Amino acid sequence: KIIVLDFGSQYNQLITRRIRDFGIYSELLSHKITAAEIKKINPKGIIFSGGPNSVYADGAFTVDPDIYKLGIPILGICYGMQLMAHNLGGKVESAKDSEYGRADIEVTEDNAVMFKDLPKDQYVWMSHGDLVTEVPAGFTATATSVNCPISAMANDAKKFYGLQFHTEVRNTQYGLDILRRFAFDVCGAEANWTMDDFIDLQVAKIKEEVGSKKVILGLSGGVDSSVAAVLLNKAIGDQLTCIFVDHGLLRKNEAQQVMDALSRDLGVNIVKVDAADRFLGKLAGVTDPEQKRKIIGNEFIEVFNEEALKIKDVDFLAQGTLYTDVIESGTDTAQTIKSHHNVGGLPEDLHFKLIEPLRSLFKDETRELGEKLGIPHELVWRQPFPGPGLGIRVIGEITEEKLRIVRDTDAILREEIAKHGLDKEVWQYFTVLPGIRSVGVMGDGRTYDYTIGIRAVTSIDGMTADFAQLPWDVLQEISVRMVNEVDNVNRVVYDVTSKPPATIEWE
Ligand code: XMP
Repeated sequence: KIIVLDFGSQYNQLITRRIRDFGIYSELLSHKITAAEIKKINPKGIIFSGGPNSVYADGAFTVDPDIYKLGIPILGICYGMQLMAHNLGGKVESAKDSEYGRADIEVTEDNAVMFKDLPKDQYVWMSHGDLVTEVPAGFTATATSVNCPISAMANDAKKFYGLQFHTEVRNTQYGLDILRRFAFDVCGAEANWTMDDFIDLQVAKIKEEVGSKKVILGLSGGVDSSVAAVLLNKAIGDQLTCIFVDHGLLRKNEAQQVMDALSRDLGVNIVKVDAADRFLGKLAGVTDPEQKRKIIGNEFIEVFNEEALKIKDVDFLAQGTLYTDVIESGTDTAQTIKSHHNVGGLPEDLHFKLIEPLRSLFKDETRELGEKLGIPHELVWRQPFPGPGLGIRVIGEITEEKLRIVRDTDAILREEIAKHGLDKEVWQYFTVLPGIRSVGVMGDGRTYDYTIGIRAVTSIDGMTADFAQLPWDVLQEISVRMVNEVDNVNRVVYDVTSKPPATIEWE
């Protein structure tokens, strides 16, 4: 395995992902980890991620200096390279001009291991304010660019390497090749890790952590919590109780599908609670998106606590939190974008210990895991669905009527996308009710009714997304059906913004 130490870059988990794609197990760990702890893990290599800070900033993240004495190969990327240079006696300075985006580098060392068999001239993706101006003793500079004379450095004897650019993003021409050189040639790792190993590892971990204690899990109806539930069920069987809170904000027929697949067919122990009235009551009159999310999150936990109290001696709360939820809700090192339902809103006095077995996975990895665990294909490949459900797709105040409109238009959209075979191509698609009404004409009469927005995006992991270029004729069919079949809809619009600058959900 190769571990990645987190210095706060938005791309840190992407590095672990790339390494896992090579067939080598990788996980992201805190930069606070000690050399002794790393020795116990016994990785083949260590990668220092990038990060937003300067190594000279107050409280700048650093590493246990003994890490450099472990004899394990280290690759520093961006901040990671600067930190390595700083720690080992090189010089880091603030760049005259910060550099963001594409840069052309030239490999200056004939035998540079990291660039073996790659063209000398290549483009890379830079994002930095500081740069290394002097390599530490024992290092040589191996690549250069106009704005960053030392773009890469190497100490072959110690197997320490530094790259100022980001290898993990697609905008670096040979990024994956360079990472491969490190993983295979430098660290000598072998490509023998698969999702089955992940299951074995997590099942063992869960068993060890839980022992004979009891765990509850909140099923939201989405892919993530379902996969977490089945994984836990595999590890601890009926020591797990899933509490399926039907908050009244689910899609059409969704609750029944989930019950059929997980409880009836896979034997997961599920208690279903119908709490729609409670949620809608709390949400009445509330229009602020963050407040709505918090209310839904808190209410969820409250219903949970009440149900949990009915089960004696519960010690653990399991959640299907994925990596993208973690990063967008802010971590030790990264900034908050939206407070996610799975992560935010946990009351301080929660007495459970948390188990989050999917925390290091991206969405597509979670799906692969779900299929490996025997969850039906249709369920696993359902598009992601947010914890707060339709509650964040009715913009502003939530009412029963608005929920009905979103639910029915969403069902039509899903039917049509499936009918035209677009469900694999489009990553996520749903309708939103912006809450505005506009004038229309139906038959001979004037109408003054709601507008429905269609959101359909392509994405790999939800971190970035492009609006899907749905064929006009499909959009036309969808529009006609929505207006004809769903009362109080007289206009349909299509959202043509990408993420960034918009987010996928409207709230
Ligand atoms: P945004 O809107 O942040 O969405 O671009 C990115 C992905 O995350 C989903 N999403 C959530 N998932 N709890 C979840 O489990 C949430 O609170 C939540 N908010 C957004 C969203 O549907 C998209 O797939």
